[in-house]
Amino acid sequence: MTTPSEPEFMQIMSMARGFQAAKMLMVAADLAVFDFLEEPQSAVEAASHLKAEPRAVGIFLDGLTALGLLVKGVDYYHNAELTSRYLVRGKEEYRGAIIRHMHHTLRSWNRLAETLVLGHPPEVEPEKWLDKGEKEPEEVADFIWGMHALARDLAPQVAAKLNLRGVKRLLDLGGGPATYAIYFAKAKPEITATVFDLPVPSKIARENIARYGLSDRIDTLAGNFLKDDIGSGYDFIWISHILHSHDEEQCHLIINKAIRALNPGGAMAIQDFFLNDDGVSPVGAAMFSVHMLAVTPRGRSYMHTEVADWLLSAGLVDIQHIETTPDASVVLARKE
Ligand SMILES: C[S@@+](CC[C@H](N)C(=O)[O-])C[C@H]1O[C@@H](n2cnc3c(N)ncnc32)[C@H](O)[C@@H]1O
Repeated sequence: MTTPSEPEFMQIMSMARGFQAAKMLMVAADLAVFDFLEEPQSAVEAASHLKAEPRAVGIFLDGLTALGLLVKGVDYYHNAELTSRYLVRGKEEYRGAIIRHMHHTLRSWNRLAETLVLGHPPEVEPEKWLDKGEKEPEEVADFIWGMHALARDLAPQVAAKLNLRGVKRLLDLGGGPATYAIYFAKAKPEITATVFDLPVPSKIARENIARYGLSDRIDTLAGNFLKDDIGSGYDFIWISHILHSHDEEQCHLIINKAIRALNPGGAMAIQDFFLNDDGVSPVGAAMFSVHMLAVTPRGRSYMHTEVADWLLSAGLVDIQHIETTPDASVVLARKE
């Protein structure tokens, strides 16, 4: 028997429908549906947990089952294996913060057409961007814990790929939850690190560092790296996923400030969702650039070659580009 081939237009149609699965997952994470589906529940029982209407909840749970997030028995639903591992609050592997963070950013994506006209998201005045981050601590917490949810699997791989030999003092600039500083310190016992970030993220970093039992080797410095002193005397400066939320002028400011803070012979490593020279691949970096357009006043993805040129023009030597994770790569350089 032959199966009917998919009409070509369906490739376009599945893009248009792409938001539906994302929105279902985000709503389920917001409502903490997966917390009580560790135990099998009927739609009526789930509706009672959610103080919601049973018919609507049944349809929603069937949809989550179709997506593979739940398993359905005769008259009950429970979490699928990955859901149980990553989406149940209180579990060690819980990563719901990144789903909630994506949900917060959907507000900005809904205004993308206005952003194209204005050149920046309508709700984000470029000069008030930082203040906004500090005013909504819950959203900042979802963002920062969300960064940990993503980086905790990647940081050990990155630590294994970087040459950290001889490094004693390390700066994790814009280090957020300190995930990279933590895994670098775990990989090399001789490293002591400082994580520089804004005040609310710094508080979260301290909590995370304490969880990993590294408070004696990693400290935090709270401030704004565009305006404040970032310290000095570092052998290695790690700048991960920072440049993409800034314009070129700000990127130069950050890079030059980091170079001044670096010891002679020290190294700088910039990780990002870098684009290839064509500016449109890999697809993840190209899509991330639109994400930055939607949610930041002046961000975008940069090409690794343009960042390498900036470092060279700023006087650094031994420029290298290495793949670190499936989506991101690192541009490395040394100060003479
Ligand atoms: C996308 S997160 C990256 C976090 C971490 N480096 C990582 O790769 O997982 C960007 C971080 O930069 C911080 N940040 C943004 N602007 C900043 C500024 N002007 N001064 C200090 N930190 C800033 C944010 O608070 C956030 O923690």
